Amino acid sequence: MDQTLIILKPDAVQRGLMGSVIHRIERKGLSIIAMKMAILSRAVVEAHYEMHREKPFFGSLVKFMTSGPVVLMVLQGNHAVDVCRKLIGATAGFKAEPGTIRGDYGMSAANNLIHGSDSNESAKTEIARFFKSDELLTCQPALHHWVYDTSDGKAQ
Ligand code: RTP
Ligand code: MG
Repeated sequence: MDQTLIILKPDAVQRGLMGSVIHRIERKGLSIIAMKMAILSRAVVEAHYEMHREKPFFGSLVKFMTSGPVVLMVLQGNHAVDVCRKLIGATAGFKAEPGTIRGDYGMSAANNLIHGSDSNESAKTEIARFFKSDELLTCQPALHHWVYDTSDGKAQ
C-alpha cells in the first residue's frame, strides 16, 4: 500500500484544529501508521522545503514552520498521496474548494494548516526524514476489510 507524510503545521496546532483534521483522515479510511509531535529545527525545515529555497516566501515559510509544535504523521492506503492532496485542497485557503481541509479552515496561502507529500518518491524521502523505519506500525487495522474489498485477497 502507498504511504504519505502529513504535517499539521503550527497554525493548525495553535488554532486547536488537530482533532478536526485527524477526524477527516480517519473518516476517509486512511490508516495512521505513525504520529508524533515536535518542534522542527531550521535545518530540517530548510531540507524539507529545499525546492522552494529561491522563492520569495522561503524565509517566512521557514520561520512559520519553526514557530511552534507540529504533528507529523505517516498515512497508509491505496493511492494515499493523491487521496491526501485532494483532502487537503489547493495551496491557498482563499482558493481551496469548500469540503477540503484548507478550503474549510483557512484563508491564507502561507498559513495553510497542513502539508502532504506530492508524489510517492517525495513521500519516501519525507517519511525517512522524520521517522525511523521501526516507528511505522506494520499491524493491519481492524477496519481494513470494511474500508476495502478484500474478497480476492487484494485491497481494492
Ligand atoms: P505543502 O508543500 O506545504 O504541502 O504545500 P503545497 O504543496 O500546496 O504548496 P507549495 O507550493 O509546495 O508551497 C509550500 C508552502 O509554502 C508556503 N507558501 N507561501 N506566501 C505565499 O505565497 C506562499 N506560497 C506558498 C505555504 O505554507 C505552502 O504550503
Ligand atoms: Mg509542496
